Amino acid sequence: MPTTTFHPDGAALLCDAVPLSDIARAEGTPVYVYSAAAIDRAYAAVDAAFASYPHRLHYALKANSTLAIACRLRRLGSGIDANSVGEIEVALRAGFAPDDIVFTGVGKRDDELERAITLGVHAVNAESRGEIDRIAGMSHARGLRARVALRINPDVDAGSHPYITTGVGSSKFGVPFAQAAALCHEIAANPALHLVGLHAHVGSQILKVEPLQRAAGMLVRLACGLRDAGIVIEHVDVGGGVGIPYDGGPGLSLDAYAAGILSVVRPSGLALLLEPGRVIMAPAGVLLTRVVDIKSRASGADLAVVDAGMTELIRPALYGAYHRIDPIVRRPGGDHLYEIVGPLCETSDTFGKARPMPPLEVGDVLAVRDAGAYGSVMASNYNRRPFAPEMLVEGGCWRTIRRRQTIDELMNLEQ
Ligand SMILES: Cc1ncc(COP(=O)(O)O)c(C=O)c1O
Repeated sequence: MPTTTFHPDGAALLCDAVPLSDIARAEGTPVYVYSAAAIDRAYAAVDAAFASYPHRLHYALKANSTLAIACRLRRLGSGIDANSVGEIEVALRAGFAPDDIVFTGVGKRDDELERAITLGVHAVNAESRGEIDRIAGMSHARGLRARVALRINPDVDAGSHPYITTGVGSSKFGVPFAQAAALCHEIAANPALHLVGLHAHVGSQILKVEPLQRAAGMLVRLACGLRDAGIVIEHVDVGGGVGIPYDGGPGLSLDAYAAGILSVVRPSGLALLLEPGRVIMAPAGVLLTRVVDIKSRASGADLAVVDAGMTELIRPALYGAYHRIDPIVRRPGGDHLYEIVGPLCETSDTFGKARPMPPLEVGDVLAVRDAGAYGSVMASNYNRRPFAPEMLVEGGCWRTIRRRQTIDELMNLEQ
């Protein structure tokens, strides 16, 4: 019984029991393929790691917000971390109750805050004094008491890529720790606000427990200080951030992560909220893409030009991110070095350089691994390329959970 979701069977790569070549043939490329079993397993693994303590996972919808994925997470018992009113609407359509949703984001518009407040979400994770004032104004005008958690900037460097590091002092996220206690007192004193929690999210793709633990410790310290002053909150929300081993290595142990977080949170007795995204979705998905051209060069690796690019998966172009790439059917023959490039008019549109692969031919299909998070959600129509479809493999077959966008749909909004 294979333990990994995407596993070889002879020369073929399978998703659970389904040959990826069957999906590529039937659905065309580029196409995203997700494993339902892998999503379920990853959710259960994170949940189980924290089983000894009152907690709730609020899946970070930004990682992958396709409706069927959101529905699946709801059935697994998850809550939602939404980052825009669009994500709140997806969550509602997926059947989440307002109380299942925490609403995060550094630049929430008035209409977004209004929607969240009137719905009565579990917490609006407020990012600044200005935002707190706006929430208070709206809440007061409606005779409501908005549930607010204050997002702290703990000034912790999680050692991740600078573009996905959110907890250093210079970043745009949250309020400085030094100002947090005073702001909490103000929130607690305002009858239009209900201070329910403290929040921090120090970044994404973090592979060490220490920065995550340090930020959690700061939240707990602050919460205990508030309690001593008579302000009792309900929860600490330690955000997401757990990294995955894109190189196929061991990665961050969930048990070590949970032990680190719980060692600082447990003494507080406060409920624990977590906002995992990548760790649940990334390993559950691949992007299938077809080789459309092979070009040899005077020196260096041959170019394999594929039919997906930064429009489908921007992470390599945006962060220099590494994704393993495998042919879905291996041709016989020794490895050869290829540079895997997309079709877009950008040199950064490259999925991998000098990748050893068996011989490739035009028409071959490659699987870009660990593409289930921050893949389809970050797609664009640059170069007028329609969005790729998404398939969910479950119970030995697959179904379309988002169909391919047509050129007509791509132009629908224009006059
Ligand atoms: C506030 C917040 N919570 C949760 C997440 C999810 O992070 P990850 O996918 O790394 O778990 C993010 C991602 O950037 C975020 O900004």
